[in-house]
Amino acid sequence: MRVAKKETCYGAKIEKKFGERLRKLLAEKGLLDFEHLIVKNAEHIIFPLKRKLEKDELEELARVGAEIELGKFEFEIAKKKPRSLKEALQSELSESEIEMLVTSFDVIGDIGIIEIPDELLAKKELIGKALLEVNPHLKTVARVLSKHIGKFRLRPIEIIAGERKTLTIHKESGCSFKVDVAKTYFSPRLSFERMRIARQIRGGEVIGAWFAGVGPFPIIFAKHSRMKKALAIELNPHAYKLLEENIKLNKCEKKVQAILGDVKEVVPKLKIKFDRIVMPLPKGSELFLDEAFQAIKSKGIVHFYQFAPRNEPFKQVVANIEKAAGEHSREVKIIEKRIVRSVAATKAQVVIDFEVE
Ligand SMILES: C[S@@+](CC[C@H](N)C(=O)[O-])C[C@H]1O[C@@H](n2cnc3c(N)ncnc32)[C@H](O)[C@@H]1O
Repeated sequence: MRVAKKETCYGAKIEKKFGERLRKLLAEKGLLDFEHLIVKNAEHIIFPLKRKLEKDELEELARVGAEIELGKFEFEIAKKKPRSLKEALQSELSESEIEMLVTSFDVIGDIGIIEIPDELLAKKELIGKALLEVNPHLKTVARVLSKHIGKFRLRPIEIIAGERKTLTIHKESGCSFKVDVAKTYFSPRLSFERMRIARQIRGGEVIGAWFAGVGPFPIIFAKHSRMKKALAIELNPHAYKLLEENIKLNKCEKKVQAILGDVKEVVPKLKIKFDRIVMPLPKGSELFLDEAFQAIKSKGIVHFYQFAPRNEPFKQVVANIEKAAGEHSREVKIIEKRIVRSVAATKAQVVIDFEVE
């Protein structure tokens, strides 16, 4: 059992029933010491003071209307809440280990997802618990085992602290999303992108929300635009199930329709054409440009995401678009090129918005 550390310092002792009056007065005068804990017994309460009181301060305390015993008392030292991961681990890790800590992490609902360097793996539970201590809104901490993999773009993780769960509810732009961080893709880092596109949508648009995951793009569009409808196509059955649940959760059944399947197979069978298509599949989206040119209306807009080298982020992506456009005898006008985020020292995720003439 942890033995609380104690210290002797100035305090003011009063009968319990006058305690609240004295506390208010001391707080008002800025005399209460928060680095020590208040002592209570059956009859009395003792407040720790920042210092020995001056004569005029003693006179002020008389306003309480009860006898106050001033003197030195023993108080427990209050445990300070660490303000950062490094601060929380200061006494547990060596200086060189602290240097190695990766302090940025993703928050999806109440799950924190952090990278732990191999050198610190033996301390993973300690690091997980420290992250929970610093971020009381987190219930679970998981560590990343590798980057996103496979066609469902899943990120293998291991829970290292807190509740052993992978399902959570993430809030973004006034919408709620059920996410299973082990079985579905979700990135809170795309929140700006979702609202950026939502603001461009005109009333009555029909939107292809391809590679929809658990639905953040089409559901945010439904909440923040006057679109007519979005068809949300997703291949991963776990993500599709949560997509359906999220459509209901956000009450947008009339505007978002979930379709389970491969964009390559689903799109050619659709009877409708889109005013706008969103393609957030940065690894391999160029393989779906054919479907985009088949399904986009004249003057329609495509938001096309890709990974690209940071030193020349747009050249190859634009070339991919222009090649596919040529094969479909269509012309494109590039409206916007953006670096969405950097994903490695030499790699970035980019988006190109283009209009199909
Ligand atoms: C990078 S994630 C984006 C998910 C979601 N749009 C988001 O922002 O959270 C790509 C998604 O596309 C899905 N996917 C991959 N290939 C697909 C295909 N051929 N057809 C439909 N969905 C596909 C994956 O399962 C994954 O959920």
